[in-house]
Amino acid sequence: VERLAWLIAELARAHGTRQVVDLGSGQGYLSRALAYQHGLDVLAVDADDVQTCGAQRYQRQTERHARRVEDRAPEQSQAYQPNVAPQGDSVAGEGEGNMPARGVLVHATHRVTERSLDELLAALHAKADHGTAGVSTEADEPPSGDASASAPARDDHRSGRVPWLLCGLHTCGDLAPSSLRLFVESDAHLLVNVGCCYNLLTESAVTSGANDQTNAGFPMSHWLRTELTRQGEAPSLGLTARHLACQAPGRWPSQAEATHQAFERNYYRALLHLFMVEHGMAAANVDAPRIGQLGRKPLPTFAAYAIAALRKLARSDRLSADQSARLHAFLAAPGDDPQAPAAVLEAFAAQHADGRRQVAAFWTLRALLAPALERLLLQDRVHYLREQGHDAWIIALFDPQASPRNLALVSVKTAEPAPVHD
Ligand SMILES: C[S@@+](CC[C@H](N)C(=O)[O-])C[C@H]1O[C@@H](n2cnc3c(N)ncnc32)[C@H](O)[C@@H]1O
Repeated sequence: VERLAWLIAELARAHGTRQVVDLGSGQGYLSRALAYQHGLDVLAVDADDVQTCGAQRYQRQTERHARRVEDRAPEQSQAYQPNVAPQGDSVAGEGEGNMPARGVLVHATHRVTERSLDELLAALHAKADHGTAGVSTEADEPPSGDASASAPARDDHRSGRVPWLLCGLHTCGDLAPSSLRLFVESDAHLLVNVGCCYNLLTESAVTSGANDQTNAGFPMSHWLRTELTRQGEAPSLGLTARHLACQAPGRWPSQAEATHQAFERNYYRALLHLFMVEHGMAAANVDAPRIGQLGRKPLPTFAAYAIAALRKLARSDRLSADQSARLHAFLAAPGDDPQAPAAVLEAFAAQHADGRRQVAAFWTLRALLAPALERLLLQDRVHYLREQGHDAWIIALFDPQASPRNLALVSVKTAEPAPVHD
């Protein structure tokens, strides 16, 4: 939060603006850092009213703390230097240190789509001008500071005179592509975006025709659609690859326990699929039947995992009638029978013990693709922005060991169209 806020503040300063819209602002950590530590005027937008209310509660706490600090040591609160680069990896500490001249922070509940910013801004202006909010937007009044002081900025904002910055931290799934399209279609001048949850992206259903227009989350760029189509590939990654793009194998050493548990689940999953194929409960040449979550607690042995998974599958409609009949018969054997499920499954695991190393090697090699997949997703966004004539870069904000989503996409609208690089 601290580093991203600093980057946004520097960009805003360099381009002579204080106006920021934070999309998918959640509990408002970034918005408050921008308003209270860097003195920017922030419109914080989130689709979820629970998030908005939480952010407003934190904001009131921050306000109270700021007043106490100012009352105690007014001269100290002038000493704050908002443009100092962050030194550590710590998250911006609220309620600590001195406060700068504050910006205005306004919250709104609004589901952002690429077409909705005008509606959002119009609703906010209506509320500010006439004390009424638009139907689909709930905005609060600026909680502190002189609200009228920002009125000229609002007028400038509306007429497009003041450059403004569109940002978002951990804009999950399609919120990132929607933010980019909003940036392109609005009069925003600067964009800073950090995405997350690539698994939630929608993908283009179109399998041919690089020129087809799409509102899908991936691919966005003409470049990638052309490239994939030229190579005879469908312009999509699929859910497994999108899940993989979220992984952070660089953090395995520092998260040994969680990594070990994740591997065990994958190993058990692979072993169970083999067991089901060998016992006529699944086909060999199609994907393994989906099992989904089996509760929060890690299951201690392969037998415990497999029995929980098989019971879940027995209640589902994911198997053929024949496969389902075999599964029910297997689970029905009584506990003292030598063919009891637990005994059979443990014997199967012992017989295939060598497979653990093969699965570990495969799992590791596969996970090493994660950074490349994330880069591909982000490079697609960079190309999309450049194709629209804007400068765009990816900036590494910090060591990904600290937090996996360390790449920020930055774009600046230029007077001259930016060259499109391959
Ligand atoms: C992963 S959270 C990030 C929250 C915050 N930016 C942070 O970093 O702490 C994503 C947020 O985006 C919001 N969101 C998702 N889709 C949205 C949309 N289309 N319009 C507005 N908000 C959205 C969610 O409600 C959620 O609060």
